[in-house]
Amino acid sequence: MDKLNHVIEAQQFTPERLSDIFAVAREMEQVVRHYGSNILNRRLMATLFYEPSTRTRLSFEAAMKRLGGEVITTENAREFSSAAKGETLEDTVRIVEGYADVIVIRHFESGAARRAASVARVPIINAGDGPGQHPTQSLLDVYTIQKEVGRLDGITVAMVGDLANGRTARSLAYLLAKYKDVKFYFVAPEVVRMKDDIKEYLHRHGVFFAEEEDLFKVAAMADVIYQTRIQKERFGDRTADYENARGKYIIDRELLQVMKERAVIMHPLPRVDEIHPEVDTDPRAAYFRQAHNGLYIRMALLKMVLNA
Ligand code: NCD
Repeated sequence: MDKLNHVIEAQQFTPERLSDIFAVAREMEQVVRHYGSNILNRRLMATLFYEPSTRTRLSFEAAMKRLGGEVITTENAREFSSAAKGETLEDTVRIVEGYADVIVIRHFESGAARRAASVARVPIINAGDGPGQHPTQSLLDVYTIQKEVGRLDGITVAMVGDLANGRTARSLAYLLAKYKDVKFYFVAPEVVRMKDDIKEYLHRHGVFFAEEEDLFKVAAMADVIYQTRIQKERFGDRTADYENARGKYIIDRELLQVMKERAVIMHPLPRVDEIHPEVDTDPRAAYFRQAHNGLYIRMALLKMVLNA
């Protein structure tokens, strides 16, 4: 298989590439159990984050260090990097690639990672580009589904919450569309329904999807409930829209009652109030395990893009 170069969007992965990444991620679980390795010794990763993050940035940094590599980082790059002086992303990338062997970027504009990759001579990894995509999250999501549900073909997935602005749901839809007989139910408040680009993609690839209003009805059929946060930061001054969307679909003990016994609840996190904490102790609550899988997936990606 060709070398994995940039990681920009979920559609770029072939099923073969996906099973390759998951196989390396499984190896990485063993590596972490043995306190890491030195395969990325003397390699340097730069993280350029123009939007807030906890899990994504820390798990990338932990991944690099667990493999013996080094990290340079700019958090809050929108305010504290030269972007604040008016430097373009392209120029910033041309500079940072002189310092680091791989660049992980989170940006506030859709398409930013692709723009960065178009000028970069080192691998670019998209850690979220505005309301665009979050491909490394969807890789860890699919890895989690495989581990928790035991299969990817033939599953029924309910995507819930902010499907218009939630880049994780968008990337996950693209990625799961690559497996056989996956069925999607989209359950979103009116103002944040799944966008046409995804629906057209699913349609073109013959993937079943339906938009539903009743979360209880969908929860009874789902193998995976993928809950998401209403993305407040994307509403600007539309506070009434935000308030209407928020609180519409909450996962609580009542919903657990109708779910299948072997189903799982996932969430990219952070959550606000869309999953009640009373759900956390249910064995089907997979979201914390899901976040931990991010470490293995990101170790695998770094190993692969750096050809180690
Ligand atoms: C998500 C994101 O940043 O898109 N968080 C994450 O990376 N796990 C989801 C969110 O912010 O709601």
